[in-house]
Amino acid sequence: MQKKTFRFSNASVDFYFAGGFAYLKKIVDQKNSVLITDDNVFLHHQKRFKNWNSIVLKPGEEFKIQATVDSDVAQMIAMEADRTTTLIGVGGGVITDLTGYIASVYMRGVRFGFVPTSLLAMVDASIGGKNGIDVGNYKNMVGIIRQPAFILHDLIFLQSLPENEWRNGFAEIIKHAAIKDARMFTELEQNNLSFYQRKRTEACSLIRRNALLKTKVVQQDEFESGERKLLNFGHTLGHALENQYELSHGEAISIGMTYAAMLSKRLNGFKQSERVIQVLEKYNLPTFVEFDKEKVIGVLKMDKKKVKDSIHFILLQKIGKAFIQKISIDQLYQSL
Ligand SMILES: NC(=O)c1ccc[n+]([C@@H]2O[C@H](COP(=O)([O-])OP(=O)(O)OC[C@H]3O[C@@H](n4cnc5c(N)ncnc54)[C@H](O)[C@@H]3O)[C@@H](O)[C@H]2O)c1
Ligand SMILES: [Zn+2]
Repeated sequence: MQKKTFRFSNASVDFYFAGGFAYLKKIVDQKNSVLITDDNVFLHHQKRFKNWNSIVLKPGEEFKIQATVDSDVAQMIAMEADRTTTLIGVGGGVITDLTGYIASVYMRGVRFGFVPTSLLAMVDASIGGKNGIDVGNYKNMVGIIRQPAFILHDLIFLQSLPENEWRNGFAEIIKHAAIKDARMFTELEQNNLSFYQRKRTEACSLIRRNALLKTKVVQQDEFESGERKLLNFGHTLGHALENQYELSHGEAISIGMTYAAMLSKRLNGFKQSERVIQVLEKYNLPTFVEFDKEKVIGVLKMDKKKVKDSIHFILLQKIGKAFIQKISIDQLYQSL
């Protein structure tokens, strides 16, 4: 068991890497804890939930909404959960976002932790303390920044993870490597998706490395005034495409990263855009989609990251080093 503790401005988070789900009993009082999961995770891992108080929610982004919070709270009241209860989100990013939010408002706040079960949740969504729900078409419109007490990884969960969810996770891993870790980028170039699906030890160390990378970025900039913005690499255009073209998040940001790499080349002479494209392809991620330029620019004009008529865009100086550049909407339009 490897336990590592990370300090944030007003909380500390214990990480249990390669934890083993059974270890959860040693971290919390089983009788006074509630696991929150979704149908898919529960179905594949039912035996692990034995002897735990559990609430099983409907899966998917469309249920990351207030109605789900209400039904969850009703079940917690029925279970007589109180201020001393610990909530544990066992699932993908939808479940960890929901659990952190529910735990922050139930009785004005109870202790919570995460057991991320999707690759994306392990390397990204469970880390950083952003919790919340969607409202109508607005993603993560309502929420709170609050760190979990602990995060426990057990790679056994990945055995049931669908192929497309592996790809979604790798899109964020490639993002991390591109903006922050040239050595990891080279390692990703040398391997491929099925390698990590087969090799547990290598997958484990890659996941740990990514979780640590995101943790470090968040520690340096908990409230997103600078450094943390780099994690938006590929996401500005990605989000605009995701909403309109039925792409998964990973697919959309993969295309977003391709454009950001090309833009880095065009504006600043970035020389490694081919490598970015090739590594995305290696992990079966798309690098191109036919899209309506006007429509996408329309969405970008509404972007939260927009200031007046320009956007703070994340570009690459070289692989492993990203920076923020102000780009005008016109400039962006020309280069699409
Ligand atoms: N808080 C943050 O900082 C942050 C960062 C990134 C993403 N997010 C959020 O995370 C969500 C995306 O996360 P996600 O991709 O994990 O989504 P998800 O929770 O919807 O999981 C994806 C799918 O995989 C299934 N699943 C998860 N683990 C499984 C397993 N072990 N076996 C079988 N099926 C499994 C889920 O039921 C779901 O159908 C979004 O809502 C996004 O906004 C939050
Ligand atoms: Zn993302």
